[in-house]
Amino acid sequence: MCQTVAVSEKVDPDRRDWWRHAVVYQIYPRSFADANGDGIGDLAGLTDRVPYLQALGVDAVWLSPFYPSALADGGYDVDDYRAVDPKIGDLEQFDALVAALHGAGLRLIVDIVPNHSSNRHRWFQEALAAGPGSPARGRYIFRDGRGEKGELPPTDWEAAFGGSTWTQTEDGQWYFHLFADEQPDFNWDHPEVRADFIKTLAFWADKGVDGFRVDVANGLAKDLSEPLPDAARLKTIPAGPDHPFYDRDEVDAIYREWRRLFDRYDPPRFAVAEVWTDLPDRRLRYARPDSLGQAFNFDLLRADFAADQFRSLVDKNLAAAAKADSSSTWVLSNHDVVRTASRYGLPLAGADDGAYPPPTLARDVAWLLSGGTSPVEDVALGLRRARAASLFILGLPGSAYLYQGEELGLREVAQINPADRQDPAFFRSQGREVGRDGCRVPLPWTTDGPSLGFGPGPAHLPQPGWFKDYAVSLQAGDPDSTLALFRQALSQRHALLSGLSRSDEAFRWLPAPAGVLAFARGDAWQVWTNFGDTDQPLPPGEVLLASTPLEGRLPAAATVWLRP
Ligand code: GLC
Ligand code: CA
Repeated sequence: MCQTVAVSEKVDPDRRDWWRHAVVYQIYPRSFADANGDGIGDLAGLTDRVPYLQALGVDAVWLSPFYPSALADGGYDVDDYRAVDPKIGDLEQFDALVAALHGAGLRLIVDIVPNHSSNRHRWFQEALAAGPGSPARGRYIFRDGRGEKGELPPTDWEAAFGGSTWTQTEDGQWYFHLFADEQPDFNWDHPEVRADFIKTLAFWADKGVDGFRVDVANGLAKDLSEPLPDAARLKTIPAGPDHPFYDRDEVDAIYREWRRLFDRYDPPRFAVAEVWTDLPDRRLRYARPDSLGQAFNFDLLRADFAADQFRSLVDKNLAAAAKADSSSTWVLSNHDVVRTASRYGLPLAGADDGAYPPPTLARDVAWLLSGGTSPVEDVALGLRRARAASLFILGLPGSAYLYQGEELGLREVAQINPADRQDPAFFRSQGREVGRDGCRVPLPWTTDGPSLGFGPGPAHLPQPGWFKDYAVSLQAGDPDSTLALFRQALSQRHALLSGLSRSDEAFRWLPAPAGVLAFARGDAWQVWTNFGDTDQPLPPGEVLLASTPLEGRLPAAATVWLRP
């Protein structure tokens, strides 16, 4: 089960902690590159673009789900965990992708979705057929309903995409799902569920996969024993040991078992947990060396482009990562949120007062609901801030996660024809939430063709006319483009990090004027970001890289990398 796969010479197997300061590029495979022209991105298209990723200078790729799926939730509804969706490719093409990435010196992290399967998964189909009380139902969470005839769901809880967390089957029982109806939650108390995921992880690790991104990592352990709180009370229970399904202590044991498997490989496999929580101390449990190893810090997604907010979240997360003997992660964008360049083009939302959703997320959702018309996006300012924020995070200790298109400064597609929408959040909320399709529109590679070089045919989610202005082909030859900035930043980051003794630790704040944050990494690298809207004096030193032309100043909404 645990044979060691020969990795190409270019990936150094001795670097056991490669992930600590890796730049990881997230690929949403159905929207990256389509080789066969059916409108859906595929593994062959992705393999063709490995040279692009290599030239960009990222260290690893995180591949969002590519498993067989009816796409009720963009592939996060998995029919079969140890196969490739035939619409996307096959296992042989997967092996070819691993070989191409490793040959180019890049690692591969795959998404694992352990909280729920799809309703088409063999086990769920078996459970439905086997009927109430059957052992097959024990792998999921089935309950009788309330009311005289069990006609009411067991609780009044609302699912993450709207609607109830319970769906009734034809025989009258109800099954539990945190997300869409098509995503029944597993019962993680069931030994077969645990064993099957170990098998799945080993399957991909044996194929040479370097690590895993663990979807809804904080949701697996549940205690749904009676009496269950009603929806109103549920909202008052903090995630943690008393919550029926979020962040219970029992998740620790699951990941300790996974870690034992990971550590049987050489180099050990790595994992990063998706955990949305305000409490870095709880998040740390997933990041510890005896657990998954790293946990996403999403604080930047809930922060304004503002010096005080950035400073406090950096302090908080660096301290937390050190405490867990992990490294911090920096995330400005992913497949679940409004693209950075658009988000930063909106008016500042104000400090997070602990409310959920935080003001920035609430503002982004309101903006999406208006079809991007209110407030009006300041396109130039958004891009300028996004470039500045990117150079800021790429200077920090820890690893940075980039989402496909972020390196192009791509904006959110706020206006999408309802007939073209795919996100279950849109359908389940009757359009009250427009959902996440706007950040999942296929990438523009060229300025012409039926899908701007994404593939030889039209794309599964139509690209707006303005997308061509962001095409890779335009940016690749333009030294001032956002793509050029990312390429320079990543190559310089590599060189600068290799000059640091403990590259993940050397960090200190420097005194700076109000509205400016400055920090040093060792003696040869300083990062200065002006978050304000007036120019500041340029600090002394040799300019290594700047997010915007400097003209002797540190302009508003700009970052400069300096050698003092
Ligand atoms: C995670 C994924 C998201 C998905 C959800 C349910 O939050 O990032 O895209 O919809 O889990 O699997
Ligand atoms: Ca295709």
